[in-house]
Amino acid sequence: MKKKLTFLGIETSCDETAASIVIYDNKKPHVISNIISSQIKEHKRFGGVVPELAARSHMQNIDFIINEALRKGGVHLKNIDGIAATAGPGLTVCLNVGLNIGKSLAAFLEKPFIAVNHLEGHALSPGLEKKIKFPYLLLLISGGHSQYIIVKGVGRYKQIGTTIDDALGEAFDKTAKILDLGYPGGPNLEIKAKKGDENFFILPRPILNRGGCNLSFAGLKTAVLREAQKIKKDKRLKLNLAASFQKTVIDILKKKTSVAIEQFRDLTKKNSADLIVAGGVAANEKIKEALSELCRNKKINPIFPSKEFCGDNAAMIAWAGIQNFKFRKGNQLNVTAKSRWPLDSKAPFMKGPGLKI
Ligand code: KG4
Ligand code: ZN
Repeated sequence: MKKKLTFLGIETSCDETAASIVIYDNKKPHVISNIISSQIKEHKRFGGVVPELAARSHMQNIDFIINEALRKGGVHLKNIDGIAATAGPGLTVCLNVGLNIGKSLAAFLEKPFIAVNHLEGHALSPGLEKKIKFPYLLLLISGGHSQYIIVKGVGRYKQIGTTIDDALGEAFDKTAKILDLGYPGGPNLEIKAKKGDENFFILPRPILNRGGCNLSFAGLKTAVLREAQKIKKDKRLKLNLAASFQKTVIDILKKKTSVAIEQFRDLTKKNSADLIVAGGVAANEKIKEALSELCRNKKINPIFPSKEFCGDNAAMIAWAGIQNFKFRKGNQLNVTAKSRWPLDSKAPFMKGPGLKI
């Protein structure tokens, strides 16, 4: 196999249009360019992502973003060794934009095309910055997913916990919307929470002491809604509620992460390992501080990707593409967009009424 691999990564699964050039020199990856165009302005007035608008915006921007990634990276299209694009999970209309342009370019250039699982992009993202040893425990917290996964290797995932209702990023976004804290919800809530009293409201911590390391946030969000209706427009109380919400989330994550660490140790028989926290919510400083402290107590090494690699980006897609290409897969021009694509295909589906855990 060729020693050096230059990959173009493309990401359009939700509301970020992104392209990146990553070069793997047979030792480590180098992110040569990482271009992200966020659609915050388009979706702000709706308070959430509108799929058709997002897809239209991806279509308008994708060729410019790819050209920017190539230009900034100083790489000509003919020198690309392969193209990786997100094929799922995500909004199908959005995924199709990146997937189709990625496939067309690959077919035209007669280069391999790799269809990447977005969650695998997040799962392997810390490898962009440092060498990571398998197996490790992954806490993936994003807008659509909240999972504990044992990562045994590229393509080898065992899910040990997941949310049974809302994802954590979704809970942040909905809480911010209820409290009118601005869009995008998660980052704005974190900023506003700094000014509030986190001990003012006592909020529920659903399934804290049962259900292993499965998570639940819907009841917490409903409690925020109830309290918000009582306090109406009182600004101080709103900040207190935002801070109390964030503190409750941290309490839940601390407890569930320590359960997940025990399960990881039981299943892998490994005591010393890394806990990798990835996905958009991993950018939250308070969560980072709390989980880092927990890891110190539990004698496990915490790893948080830099902010530019926490949220959606195409460098993580290029890197997952390179690893899949190297270790396992050939051309994947026949893969279609998938709205649901779990990392662990054997994991039980944990959502729906009547679920007992
Ligand atoms: O990974 P990501 O960019 O997209 C998905 O794959 O979903 O994650 C986006 C989520 C959003 O829900 C956003 O509000 C949340 O990550 N997020 C945060 C913060 N930054 C982004 N949540 C809490 N605190 C933050 N600082
Ligand atoms: Zn994501």
